[in-house]
Amino acid sequence: MANKKFTVSSFLKAKKEGKKISMLTAYDYSTAKLLDEANVDSLLVGDSLGMVMLGYENTLQVTMEDMIHHCKAVARGTKNAMVIGDMPFLSYHISLEDSIKNAGRLVKEGGVHAVKLEGGTEVIDKIKAIVNAQIPVVGHLGLTPQSINMFGGFKVQGKSEEKARKIIEDALLLQEAGVFAIVLECVPERLAKLISEKLDIPTIGIGAGKHCDGQVLVTQDILGMYTDFVPKFVKQYTKLSHHIKEAAKGYIDEINQGIFPAKEHTFSIDDEVLEKLY
Ligand code: KIV
Repeated sequence: MANKKFTVSSFLKAKKEGKKISMLTAYDYSTAKLLDEANVDSLLVGDSLGMVMLGYENTLQVTMEDMIHHCKAVARGTKNAMVIGDMPFLSYHISLEDSIKNAGRLVKEGGVHAVKLEGGTEVIDKIKAIVNAQIPVVGHLGLTPQSINMFGGFKVQGKSEEKARKIIEDALLLQEAGVFAIVLECVPERLAKLISEKLDIPTIGIGAGKHCDGQVLVTQDILGMYTDFVPKFVKQYTKLSHHIKEAAKGYIDEINQGIFPAKEHTFSIDDEVLEKLY
């Protein structure tokens, strides 16, 4: 039987029924297709593609054009998972008009079903405007990588009473503003539990412990493919970096030894045609 499409209602239904939500990042067609076939609930075209796909040091250089390019590829590879596109740095900070326009571009041109943006009180007017434009929004609190220069590094957030209170208040504000889920990144497990209990919408944790309503990780991290930096919260389910290098070495060796390509990989031509060519 075909799997059912995962939608905004599915997120809210999962929260009500206590069913965990699975989310993974995807940046290209073939990976999206595989993850969708594995029945992941949601695919996030994260601006982490800046590091994972484009080799930048952080997410700050990612542009709307980069996001649309990758969103399009993921949308084409996805049948059932809900596709969410990240709004890149400065695409929702300047004006309400700009924010609606850029969120709309991710939907119209990129083909995503919803957008995600980082921050609480500071961006609440932008979130309301995007939701009013009928674009579903996912919030993102805790360690918000686009604020890396304000945080002074990738650090756990919400450990002091003041910082924890701000995250709780922001989560409630985001819910009131109409977001249908909130990503909680790098916050202590018991704070994430408290926030998840206070909200009617699901929390999706990354480095936020098991009490969140769902989990998200970078696909290249779970596959053991992205080795520049492996955060504490990552679990590698395989070591693709090893398998990829072994396969590439096998290919290179076979070329050097004249083993590849073999007969079965080549095309034939009739003798009489060939003779005329000499
Ligand atoms: O950009 C991203 O991939 C993200 C998550 C991993 C939550 O925002």
